[in-house]
Amino acid sequence: MNEPARTGDPDLIGYSLANVSDVIVSCLDAAGAGTVMEIGSFRGTLTEALVEWAAKRGATVTAVEPQAPPELVELTSRNSHLSLRESTSHEVLREAEPPAAIVLDGDHNYSTLSRELQIVGERAPGSGLPLLLFHDVCWPHARRDTYYAPERIPESERQPLAWDVRLRPENPGVAPTGLHFDCAAAREGGERNGVLTAIEDFMAERDGLRLAIVPAFFGLGVLWHEEAPWAAAVAEVVAPLDRNPLLERLESNRVAQLVTATARGQQLGEEHARLESMRRLLRRMLGSRALGVAEAVSRLGQRGGPPVVSRAEIRDALRDGDG
Ligand SMILES: C[S@@+](CC[C@H](N)C(=O)[O-])C[C@H]1O[C@@H](n2cnc3c(N)ncnc32)[C@H](O)[C@@H]1O
Repeated sequence: MNEPARTGDPDLIGYSLANVSDVIVSCLDAAGAGTVMEIGSFRGTLTEALVEWAAKRGATVTAVEPQAPPELVELTSRNSHLSLRESTSHEVLREAEPPAAIVLDGDHNYSTLSRELQIVGERAPGSGLPLLLFHDVCWPHARRDTYYAPERIPESERQPLAWDVRLRPENPGVAPTGLHFDCAAAREGGERNGVLTAIEDFMAERDGLRLAIVPAFFGLGVLWHEEAPWAAAVAEVVAPLDRNPLLERLESNRVAQLVTATARGQQLGEEHARLESMRRLLRRMLGSRALGVAEAVSRLGQRGGPPVVSRAEIRDALRDGDG
């Protein structure tokens, strides 16, 4: 049996492409890629798998991340096959020698990705297009932009924004519970919205491109030119997975479970906050002289019997909560 992917993802959300790294490296092998660029490396979870592969093949990896977290800096410092560019994708793609393969997993919105594709297409035209691998070609990003840094994108190229939102697959707007995003398009769908829309628009302007979609872990897209010397080898790797109905059902089931679990987590969080405020109130009551007086008066009213409310009961209730 294969080892589970090392994803650094204790909640098992599946946000890293490391979950599909076996498919990615099979594609890289099929394309005979000697140079790979990963746009958006975050903490280096996929990067680590890429570097392991590169060390075996004598290949090199460039990680592009505008503000590299310490884990990625550390990974770079101990790997001679890895270099790090702390810049945005557009800058690096304009300057760097076009690599043989590019993983596009940076800012998941139409504007950013379209410009990335435009630069790649201009610098490596026709069948010289690198092998392109995309994350998030399925829900939620396929038809809905999200923005790491909306201020980096001209307002005319952005969708109307919604902040601190929750998204659910059956809801094209924003929902009270669901997966959380800091900043997303207020609505799903329509023109110039989402990762898959950007890829489709890029393909519509060029001949000979093929896109495979592996519908797992929010969707891996694989794009190549049919006349690339390695096109048939890549097509063979992805053919059994491309829009596979069984994978599609598993992914929609996984997403539904994730949304339900997230909603339960939200409810628990809200209940915890309510309980905490009640406990604060009880602690204040315990310390108040008014409660002592009320307890004594209540004892009198009960003719020596137990008071309606006692400090002992409140202490017990607080102890239960601490247990
Ligand atoms: C989803 S994470 C990448 C995850 C990683 N590829 C993996 O599979 O483990 C996206 C990353 O893209 C970075 N990012 C955002 N905008 C970017 C841009 N314009 N250029 C390059 N990276 C960007 C973010 O800082 C973030 O760390």
